[in-house]
Amino acid sequence: MCGIVGYIGDKQAQSILLSALSMLEYRGYDSCGIAVVSNGIKSYKNVLRVAEMKEIAPQIIGTVGIGHTRWATCGEPTRVNAHPHFDCTGNIAVVHNGVITNYPVLKQKLINDGHEFVSDTDTEVIPHLIEKYYKGDLEKAVELALLDIQGSYAIAVIGAGENKLVVARKDSPLIIGVGDRETFVASDVPAILDYTNQVIYLDDGDIGVITGDGIKIKKDGLEIHREEHKILWSVEAAQKAGYEHFMLKEIHEQPKVIRDTLSEYTQMSEPIVDLENLREDDRSILILACGTSYNAGLVGKYIMEDLVGVPVRVEIASEFSCYGQTPEKTLAFVISQSGETADVLKAIRKLKGVQCHVVAVTNVVGSSISRIADQTIYTRAGPEISVAATKSFIAQLMVLYWLAMSYSKVDAKRLADILLELRQLPSKVQWMLDNGEDILQCARYLARFENVFFIGRGLNYPIALEGALKLKEISYIHAEGYAAGELKHGPFSLLGENTPVITITGQDSTYESILTNIKEVKARKSPLIALTGDGDEAIKEFVDMVITVPRVDPIFSPVVNTVALQLLAYYTARERDCPIDFPRNLAKSVTVE
Ligand code: F6R
Repeated sequence: MCGIVGYIGDKQAQSILLSALSMLEYRGYDSCGIAVVSNGIKSYKNVLRVAEMKEIAPQIIGTVGIGHTRWATCGEPTRVNAHPHFDCTGNIAVVHNGVITNYPVLKQKLINDGHEFVSDTDTEVIPHLIEKYYKGDLEKAVELALLDIQGSYAIAVIGAGENKLVVARKDSPLIIGVGDRETFVASDVPAILDYTNQVIYLDDGDIGVITGDGIKIKKDGLEIHREEHKILWSVEAAQKAGYEHFMLKEIHEQPKVIRDTLSEYTQMSEPIVDLENLREDDRSILILACGTSYNAGLVGKYIMEDLVGVPVRVEIASEFSCYGQTPEKTLAFVISQSGETADVLKAIRKLKGVQCHVVAVTNVVGSSISRIADQTIYTRAGPEISVAATKSFIAQLMVLYWLAMSYSKVDAKRLADILLELRQLPSKVQWMLDNGEDILQCARYLARFENVFFIGRGLNYPIALEGALKLKEISYIHAEGYAAGELKHGPFSLLGENTPVITITGQDSTYESILTNIKEVKARKSPLIALTGDGDEAIKEFVDMVITVPRVDPIFSPVVNTVALQLLAYYTARERDCPIDFPRNLAKSVTVE
């Protein structure tokens, strides 16, 4: 996790570093700091959010600098543990995103050599190693220091009196933004969109030296060329545009996300993944992901098994990467919004070890996952800033629908119906967004409880999981998603007046069964909120509150139901005055295992 930035140019660095950092807070926000080359190096860091830092940080004059916003992994969030970190002389400053796994050994050796450490972080070994190797050439010293380091890193380094930035990456993202007489470094694109849309994606093992004369990139000691790419996201796409929170804005962008993702893929003449051979070879599909992306994968299982007719296995990436078994040559889809999730990266390496064909589904162009997968399908959600994934989930579902439809074995009439419904989906989601009064009422009611169950069946079982995940992460209400039939196998003991149950009531063959579950819950006195299709009057007799969603073909019910549950979580968190975009202890890009 953590966000890093760097600047070198003809403007004052401080305000640019802080504005870039504010766009990276989704990566971590325990503390933040900057360091600028300014008659030596001057630095300011503390346990603050970037906005507070902007208010109180003393002005540092200088045009070369680095900055960091932290998600604590090694060492508590304190001022001393905040980045940048320094060597003994204070002449070398480093910001780092990643984990140095051999830092205890390195630290002990450096202490034996007389280096003094002040923090509990792994990062602090980096400036001390650079100091050890420094003989007047910062670039050379960084190169040598990195040879000693094991683990993952994206770093930016400055030296007193040096008019340059030295950067490097391994298993953590880092981009260079190319401006007019100025260059930027950042963990992710939104940080630099205000200044430039030309970027260079660094690859693992790259070391970059950025001076007023240009950008030099080396790999394995040799100078190499990396292409510049033009970013198509607009600045506005990464701003709140008048919404109270990024999450609300991103929820409201979903009709457009559905249109964009579909228009991209329905125009393709060639299918990009060979599912045909798969069916002939009688093999299966494996889907791997974490968190919300895993829930999208579960929906993918239902729709692919239904439409394509091949068995699909869905696994949590962190479990699979350590303990999972897989037959050789399986076709694997790995789903990750950020494209940087460490558990997913580890799972991909394992899959490649047994010659599996890996297709990445991600929202971030040039992300680590897209680099090591055999193929990448990009979701077209645009930048997602809020830590809670919303529009990226819907975009992932769209890709999965499109894949399933591309290889569908259902009859032509059924497929035509599905396509027709798909085209109407953006306006149905828009209807949900425009008619959320019942959701707001339910949220006000829900906000007073501390435990909630979400239940669903079939395609809507993963949506129960997703509804619970969204509610717990932003409102801090303990929420659990369950297959409706499972509730009686244990959780019933928790039901009662203080434990509401939210039922996702599919308008399909699951309806009667879930009605039975609703009655069972009612008998245990739990308050009941039902999400159900427009016109379902019958259900009102059995539940306390109803959230109405537009009627859709049942295969698309996960889409409208998810949007309703995103809004429910959002309004509940707002009612409880929670920091919606930046929930405690979380970060958007989980680059540690
Ligand atoms: C929840 C959420 C997380 C992520 C998970 C995987 O709202 O965002 O559960 O889905 O950390 O992240 P990605 O998709 O980036 O691999």
